[in-house]
Amino acid sequence: MTAKLNVNIDHVATIREARKTIEPSIITAAVICEQSGADGITVHLRQDRRHIQDRDIELLRDVVTTYLNVEMAATDEMVAIAAKTLPDAVSLVPENPNEITTEGGLNVVGNFENVQSAAEQLRFAGIFVSMFIDPETDQIDAAKRAGAQQVELCTGEYAELTLASRAAHGDGRQKAVEEVFRISKAAKHATDLGLIAAAGHGLTYRNVGALAAIPEITEFNIGHNIISRAVFVGLNNAVKEMIDAIS
Ligand code: PXP
Repeated sequence: MTAKLNVNIDHVATIREARKTIEPSIITAAVICEQSGADGITVHLRQDRRHIQDRDIELLRDVVTTYLNVEMAATDEMVAIAAKTLPDAVSLVPENPNEITTEGGLNVVGNFENVQSAAEQLRFAGIFVSMFIDPETDQIDAAKRAGAQQVELCTGEYAELTLASRAAHGDGRQKAVEEVFRISKAAKHATDLGLIAAAGHGLTYRNVGALAAIPEITEFNIGHNIISRAVFVGLNNAVKEMIDAIS
């Protein structure tokens, strides 16, 4: 079965926030993604509100008819927003105010009580709980114990290894193959525990194929590469091309 694609539309809001104006509309973006075959819409409500704003979540909740997945830090503020707006899913992610983008997975082992408490409150509100973690056995086990229903395996390391500049030099290509194997083993371990396995971060039209071949991975969350391509070919084509790349 082909894995689902949730399109992360954060960077449509990044363009809007560059001018603090009303365009481009992330609502229009969400509708185009859905009409182009996306299985869901993902957004990251960051604590610094650098792109997605609280009102975006409220509007998206009214408009998105497929699946709305909101990435957020495991804080009281974020859990309260989720409990009020009721997205279909929340993905708990780590957040560092100085990062350009999410840097690696959530350390569930090291922040167990906090993550467990957030997961419990989200599940109580009827929200599906995913945790974005590195493809490591101890983190997967901790996510399961902390109440995750899904783990999204961080593909940042794989993405880094498949950048043309890295893959072409030294043992970059071999290391990328090893990373696919590590992600595959992690996905198998997660599904053996009864968790759904998703993946995301840094994925592109060029590198998603090897991960799409892993049968346990049933969902991808992809943003930057799709929105970048949309600048040249339009969002509808960019989404369709990613669906093709996955299938
Ligand atoms: N999954 C998670 C948990 C993320 O934090 C992000 C980035 O916001 C993505 C997927 C999408 O990453 P990218 O924009 O590199 O495709």
